[in-house]
Amino acid sequence: MNNEITPAVVYGTNGFTFEYAGGRLSRRPVPLPVPPPPSAGPVNSAENVEKMAVAGKAIAAALSAAQTAVQQGERSTLALEELAQAVLAQHGCKPSFQGYQPPFSTEPYAFATCISVNAEVVHGMPSAAKILAEGDIVTVDLGANFEGWHADAAISFGVGPINSAANNLLVTTKNALKEGVKKARVGHTIGDVSRAVYEYSIRHGFRPALGLTGHFIGQSVHMDPSVPNVPPHPLAYDMPLVAGMTFCIEPMLCIGSAEVDVDADRWTIRTKDGGLSAHFEHTVHVEPKGAPARVLTRTA
Ligand code: MF3
Ligand code: CO
Repeated sequence: MNNEITPAVVYGTNGFTFEYAGGRLSRRPVPLPVPPPPSAGPVNSAENVEKMAVAGKAIAAALSAAQTAVQQGERSTLALEELAQAVLAQHGCKPSFQGYQPPFSTEPYAFATCISVNAEVVHGMPSAAKILAEGDIVTVDLGANFEGWHADAAISFGVGPINSAANNLLVTTKNALKEGVKKARVGHTIGDVSRAVYEYSIRHGFRPALGLTGHFIGQSVHMDPSVPNVPPHPLAYDMPLVAGMTFCIEPMLCIGSAEVDVDADRWTIRTKDGGLSAHFEHTVHVEPKGAPARVLTRTA
């Protein structure tokens, strides 16, 4: 067989590319290993979406509180965990991550938050020993549920003054999420969301961490299908968005190489080259035709 695929192009089992060669898609028809079209993503009742919105508000409040605490001098990641726990409790919500065993792990997670610093991309753990320093960039990622209905969000921010490259990374990641959210409406597909995130990121000089995606969400935190940060293969099934769908869009961008490794703790995912990484995430609800997405985890 004539192998036309450059080695840099790796296709995921769901038909989404992991990476484009040189950040560009080959329009050459490439035979896919017959991916089954995924079943349509779950659609939620208005009543249950309101429960997710309660969780989303609590998360937004907790993330804002964590950022404010750091601005006011808090440097303990364990203190941020405790703060997030307290804010969720005030809102009558429960942490989603604590005690949850995600599909990629062999044991349940111990905390409400994931706190990832600098080269840590996602799933870093809060700890009394993990103390923030001036110039760091930190990501706080938090899931919560109200009456069993979940939301999930993340923000990244600088600890004190940060250099301009780090600041560009933060701004680009936040804006890439915005671009994705704009596409989360009837008439578009999951692939349109992915493409918007990817193209904005690449255009601004940063690449999405390989192999990490967003996800549908509802009665559990991680639901199928996934919401990649890279566009789908042109021949792959691409799911149209339907009002009532709820999912998490979460660009995780790298300043250097997009390759990642898992730490010995088997949770923390960090960039292979030690370069900085940033992560912003919202839980969105697809509104009826003609309306933009409702962001359930909007801060302020
Ligand atoms: N927000 C994280 C994600 O979407 C969830 C962390 S799962 C946990 O990947 F088990 F680490 F909590
Ligand atoms: Co998530």
